[in-house]
Amino acid sequence: MGMAVKSTSRGGQSAPPPMDDLEFTRWVRLLEARTGVTVPPERKPFLVTGLRRRMRETGHSDYATYYEELLDGARGAVEWAALVDHLTVHETHFFRHPPSLELIRKEWYPKWAAAVGVEQSVHALSVGCSTGEEAYTLAMVLDAAISDEGSQRHFGITATDVSQPALSMARAAHYPVSRLEEIPAPRRARSVEMLEDGNFRIVDRLRKRVGFACVNLLHASRAPLRQLDLIYCQNVLIYFARERRGELLDGLARLLRPHGMLVLGPGEVTGWTHPQLVRIGGRQTLAFLRQPKETRA
Ligand SMILES: C[S@@+](CC[C@H](N)C(=O)[O-])C[C@H]1O[C@@H](n2cnc3c(N)ncnc32)[C@H](O)[C@@H]1O
Repeated sequence: MGMAVKSTSRGGQSAPPPMDDLEFTRWVRLLEARTGVTVPPERKPFLVTGLRRRMRETGHSDYATYYEELLDGARGAVEWAALVDHLTVHETHFFRHPPSLELIRKEWYPKWAAAVGVEQSVHALSVGCSTGEEAYTLAMVLDAAISDEGSQRHFGITATDVSQPALSMARAAHYPVSRLEEIPAPRRARSVEMLEDGNFRIVDRLRKRVGFACVNLLHASRAPLRQLDLIYCQNVLIYFARERRGELLDGLARLLRPHGMLVLGPGEVTGWTHPQLVRIGGRQTLAFLRQPKETRA
């Protein structure tokens, strides 16, 4: 879902000048060091547009002054949080990658449930959840899998992102009616309620199962996240340098319980392996299962 463009420009400021290569490199390094997101030269217009938009809002016309202010203690940290929202891509959809969702419901969940028994609850993580559609999709899919099983199993989902504005929208769980058709018809009645303004909201029963937190994927393995049965990370790694993706995945793998599954987007990483994880699913998906027992190398 796209972020709204705010127009709170202080008057009288001239627009920032074109950005030279030296300045571009400085901003790329800052963004990469703090979020891990890498901006190749062909994405320069995206970075410059986001930066200039935020600088207009805050009344800055000079990149260097703005840069210095961002590094300036608590005030800089608050402004950094706002800027990150302008420099990250938030596009998302409900039920964005059906083959991965089928894998969860039809293949992984029944085997996981048989392996762990009826008492254990299921905990999932949506990494880079943007405005919440992915997390609520997982809630709908787990809800369906539990109903297929005919059980009352408890489930919970933690959903994380670096963008505070995206997380606020996610917590509100309120979406325009144009997004309704993304949700398969059989799931709608149990999952959403229509509002008087014609838009819709995720029903409380599912909303209560999802908790949102501002967590940088770079620090996810150090965040106070519980051990998990399902980690869903799609359309996030692609913004990180290829050589960095493996170490991020190693961090996520450490959070998986035995029989847990890590689901990525197809093609988002190549050649990554982990001693406790094995590939599962077909060619349309990219998923790894945590082995029940530690295997020795
Ligand atoms: C393109 S959206 C993908 C949303 C969702 N996963 C999906 O596939 O529909 C990418 C999200 O990753 C978030 N993101 C970018 N860098 C991040 C980081 N270092 N830690 C956590 N989230 C990050 C962005 O804020 C954005 O909301």
